[in-house]
Amino acid sequence: MKQEQHNHQKRLVSVALKLAKPTAYFTLLLLTYTLGYLSSPSATSLPSTPTPTINELTNLPSQLDNFRVTSHCADPLPAELVRQTILHRVYNGTSPFEGFPPAHVSSLLRHQRIKGWGSTGAVFDHLIQKVKPRTIIEVGSFLGASAIHMAGLTRELGLDTQILCIDDFRGWPGFRDRFKDIQMINGEVLLMYQFMQNLVSKNASESVLPVPFSSASALGKLCEWGVYGDLIEVDAGHDFLSAWSDINRAYRVLRPGGVIFGHDYFTSADDRGVRRAVNLFARIHGLKIKLDGQHWVIDSTN
Ligand SMILES: *[C@@H]1O[C@H](CO)[C@@H](O)[C@H](O)[C@H]1NC(C)=O
Ligand SMILES: *[C@@H]1O[C@H](CO)[C@@H](O)[C@H](O)[C@H]1NC(C)=O
Repeated sequence: MKQEQHNHQKRLVSVALKLAKPTAYFTLLLLTYTLGYLSSPSATSLPSTPTPTINELTNLPSQLDNFRVTSHCADPLPAELVRQTILHRVYNGTSPFEGFPPAHVSSLLRHQRIKGWGSTGAVFDHLIQKVKPRTIIEVGSFLGASAIHMAGLTRELGLDTQILCIDDFRGWPGFRDRFKDIQMINGEVLLMYQFMQNLVSKNASESVLPVPFSSASALGKLCEWGVYGDLIEVDAGHDFLSAWSDINRAYRVLRPGGVIFGHDYFTSADDRGVRRAVNLFARIHGLKIKLDGQHWVIDSTN
C-alpha cells in the first residue's frame, strides 16, 4: 500500500517534470512528499506473534475441538446395498427418478443445463482408474457436471458404481444472477430437478442419486448408516470453516484405503479457505497432499 502510494507520487512528479518550470517542479515535489508523509500510515508495526505449533492448535479450546467426534460410524455396508439404503432412508423406498419430471415442472426445466467448474479435469480419470470405486460420494454437486463426468468414466471402465451427490440444491444466495434461465416457483429454485433432468438426459440416473441435505447433516447420516465412499470429492463451501467441516466429516466415511480429493486448491477461490483447511487437516493427520491440476488429493494409504 505504502509502496503503491509512493509509486503514484513518483508518477505524478514525472508528469509534472515534463509540464512545469523548475521552480514549480520543486514546489510540487516538496508538496507531494509532505502530503505523502502526513497521510502514510504509522510505521510502527504490531509485535509479531509466534506461529503456534500443531499441538498447540489442536489443544486450543476452539472450534477445532468440535471435530473430536468420538461416536463411531456403523460398520460399512456392502457396496451393492448402498443405493437401496439411500432409497429407503431418504426416499421412502421409491426412486426420485420414477415418474420424473412431474407434469407441473417439466415445462420449466431445460432439456440439459450443465455447468461446472473444473468438472472434467484429468484428476477424475486418474483417480477412478486407480481406485476403481464402487461408491463415490460427492459433496457439492450443483448441476451435476462432475457427477455426470464420473458416471461416464466408471461406465467406460465397466465398474458398477453408485455416485451419491450431497448438495442442498439451493446454489448460493444470488446464484440466479448468473443463472437467470433456472426457473423459480415461489422461491423454490428447481436446482435439484434440473440436476436430475441433466442426469436423465445423460442416461446416468441409474448410477447417481441426489442426497439433498446440507453436507454436515448428510455426511453425519452416512456415517450412522454405514455408507462409506471409496472415493470422496469435496467441492462445497469454500470458506475455511465449511471446507474444514466437510473434509473432517467426509474423512470419517472414507473407506480405509480410499482417496479423498477436492477442487480449488489453486484457483482464485482457494484463498477463501480451502487450501488452509486441507493443509491443516493433512498436518494433523500426518497425511500427504498430492496435487493434480487445480485439485488436492489425499490418498489414505500414504
Ligand atoms: C412410504 O411408502 C409406503 C409404502 O411403501 C406408503 O404407504 C407411504 O404412504 C409412503 N410415505 C410417504 C410419505 O410417501
Ligand atoms: C443407459 O444406461 C444403461 C445402464 O445404466 C445401459 O444399459 C443403457 O444401454 C444406456 N442407454 C443408452 C441409450 O445409452
